[in-house]
Amino acid sequence: MNIMNVDYTTKIPNNVNLSEDRQVLKALEGWHPGYLDWWNDMGPEGFQESLVYLRTAVSVDPKGWAKFDYVKMPEYRWGVLLAPQDEQRLVNFGQHKGDKAWQEVPGEYRAMLRRLVVIQGDTEPASVEQQRHLGKTAPSLYDMRNLFQVNVEEGRHLWAMVYLLQKYFGRDGREEADDLLRRRSGDADAPRMLGAFNEATPDWLSFFMFTFFTDRDGKMQLESLAQSGFDPLSRTCRFMLTEEAHHMFVGETGVSRVLQRTCEAMKATGIEDPNEIEKVRALGVIDLPTMQKKMNLHYSLSLDLFGSEVSTNAANFYNAGLKGRFMETKIDDDHRLTDDHYKVLKMVDGKITLVDEPALTALNMRLRDDYTEDCAKGVERWNKVIEKTGVNFRLELPHTAFHRQIGEFANVHATPKGVLLSDGDWAKAKDDYLPSAADGDFISSLMTPVNEPGKFANWISPPKMGIDNKPGDFEYVKIEAA
Ligand SMILES: [Fe+2]
Ligand SMILES: [Fe+2]
Repeated sequence: MNIMNVDYTTKIPNNVNLSEDRQVLKALEGWHPGYLDWWNDMGPEGFQESLVYLRTAVSVDPKGWAKFDYVKMPEYRWGVLLAPQDEQRLVNFGQHKGDKAWQEVPGEYRAMLRRLVVIQGDTEPASVEQQRHLGKTAPSLYDMRNLFQVNVEEGRHLWAMVYLLQKYFGRDGREEADDLLRRRSGDADAPRMLGAFNEATPDWLSFFMFTFFTDRDGKMQLESLAQSGFDPLSRTCRFMLTEEAHHMFVGETGVSRVLQRTCEAMKATGIEDPNEIEKVRALGVIDLPTMQKKMNLHYSLSLDLFGSEVSTNAANFYNAGLKGRFMETKIDDDHRLTDDHYKVLKMVDGKITLVDEPALTALNMRLRDDYTEDCAKGVERWNKVIEKTGVNFRLELPHTAFHRQIGEFANVHATPKGVLLSDGDWAKAKDDYLPSAADGDFISSLMTPVNEPGKFANWISPPKMGIDNKPGDFEYVKIEAA
């Protein structure tokens, strides 16, 4: 079979020759009904019967993989898609650097690898659960369709991780695959594994911020797993990254369109001062200081996903050749890091200080720095949108120490500028830095659905271009499909 093309003749579309891999096919077919139950229970609420204009992968060739068509979400062809195998591929870092990449799990690293796959896998269904109420308040059919596209692809990412678990980890893998359907975002007894994936996504601005900041953490994790010496994991993640790019597009353009609309409304009515919040809100748009607060929240929650700045787990994953650095093969060094150092921001004697740490244990910090750099570029693009309208306001990423629950700054309070605060001062100032209950109420008040083709809610600008080059009034979701 041609590995580039996806086999749609089987119940589970795939390019891994499942029809000749009876045991794994059986395991996946056994898992499938539970997955559909999960999707029907926890997937987009109220739209399972609607026809949605979705893209589906027909090939893993980057030039032509997506085909668009109307589909009911529960009938979406979720499948197992891996980037093509490169026979020459090597382990490119750590103590096995230079060995041939592994096609099977090395026995000594089995537990570590399983953990990496499960942690990644757990985030995928979590975001679908977090976003399941949003269809009902979509600002347009275009946005609704993008939400559902992200949702079905996160579902497919779960399939991707479950395939690895079932193919390479035997019975433990099958148990982990079942547990991925058992945990629920925000559940008191069986929550998802990582903090940001148990937070609510109450409104569309949260959704756009989430897809910009938290899906971008996903991108960084996938990038470093795509470097893995365990080749099936690398190939899986490489294909997932092509889907992830769209999720971040949804986030970045979503926020841009909100900024655009707010600034235009301010200009049209002659409001010069972005801090005249009540006046701006009276126009039915989201004021810029609130945009900054939302950003502060989602960025800080996403920083927590990188784990502790100094971590022996991270060092072990790297040494073992399982999880590399962002752009590992492009970095000019020995790719073993045994004698190297990296600067880490820490609390030293009550002060935020840059300290030299062994590069191996500082790998989480390094990946997080790469993430921050990637975020900062996006924020600059947002600032350009504001600047072009002539409104005088700049968005800024908050300091690393701001609002953290994991790592060096978990036990201190700091302003977005990085000034340390006492508990009392933090309690007083908090609502200036993070969305308050009143801010949330205001945003909620704007979340009324707009379901007419080509129409958009007042608080957001239309996109510059349609999906799949469709015209502005295209009906991306046929809500009453039946
Ligand atoms: Fe994902
Ligand atoms: Fe994603």
